Amino acid sequence: MKTQQPIGIFDSGIGGTSIWKEIKYLLPNESTIYLSDSKNAPYGEKSKQEIIDLSIKNTEFLIDKGCKLIVVACNTATTNAIEYLRLNYNIPIIGIEPAIKTAALQTKTGTIGILATKGTLNSSLFEKTSASINHRITIIEQVGNGLVELIENGKINSTEMTTLLNSHLNLMQSSNCDCIVLGCTHYPYLIPQINKIVGNNVIIIDSGEAVAKQTKKILEDNKLLSDTKKNIYNTFYINKEKSVLDIILKDYKGININYLNF
Ligand code: DGL
Repeated sequence: MKTQQPIGIFDSGIGGTSIWKEIKYLLPNESTIYLSDSKNAPYGEKSKQEIIDLSIKNTEFLIDKGCKLIVVACNTATTNAIEYLRLNYNIPIIGIEPAIKTAALQTKTGTIGILATKGTLNSSLFEKTSASINHRITIIEQVGNGLVELIENGKINSTEMTTLLNSHLNLMQSSNCDCIVLGCTHYPYLIPQINKIVGNNVIIIDSGEAVAKQTKKILEDNKLLSDTKKNIYNTFYINKEKSVLDIILKDYKGININYLNF
């Protein structure tokens, strides 16, 4: 495996770009290939087996492109499929899970909220993590029904989004949550709106930076960290309308976004 080979990143859609941005920030010398399986979003409503099958397809696509490490930039795919992927592919695979342990350490009111997909909240991996949290802490679980679809359709700042968020955050607000965990990589794009609804005293926690740090550590441990600034590329593949990606990545230079019939 050569250090110049790219990092492969996939998500059910464009949400994993929130992780890609953290990785690029921490590891600017790494080339990346991002696969947005938007045609099959949302994964959160699918069965475990369907999520595993799609994750296999995405992983093999990225391995075929020569990736040296895979980041599963999707909580739903991680919590349902990472065990299978790690057992069956012989390259490092990094996942993302909702940061409820971090929230449990920060809460003062003793009540934390988690906004995630049905697939993540129902997974045995998530169940195991939440069972390990101090039992005096109350966890309010909320399925973010409809949020991924609106983001995929470019409606991040729409009135539909505000209405939906107000309703999803209602119980957390009335229950005195002081930390809200974003358990889906699409949701960091909603932070300004969530802040407006819950106010600045509520801490919003996502796992993007932690995933980037873990990626760096695993590359170092495996002696796979890129050692040159030359010929770096960042390629995106999306199997649906690509204009939403164009908007989300507009501030980044030197990237190329391709439509893929996948
Ligand atoms: N970004 C995915 C996640 O982190 C969205 C899941 C979905 O497609 O429902 O869970």
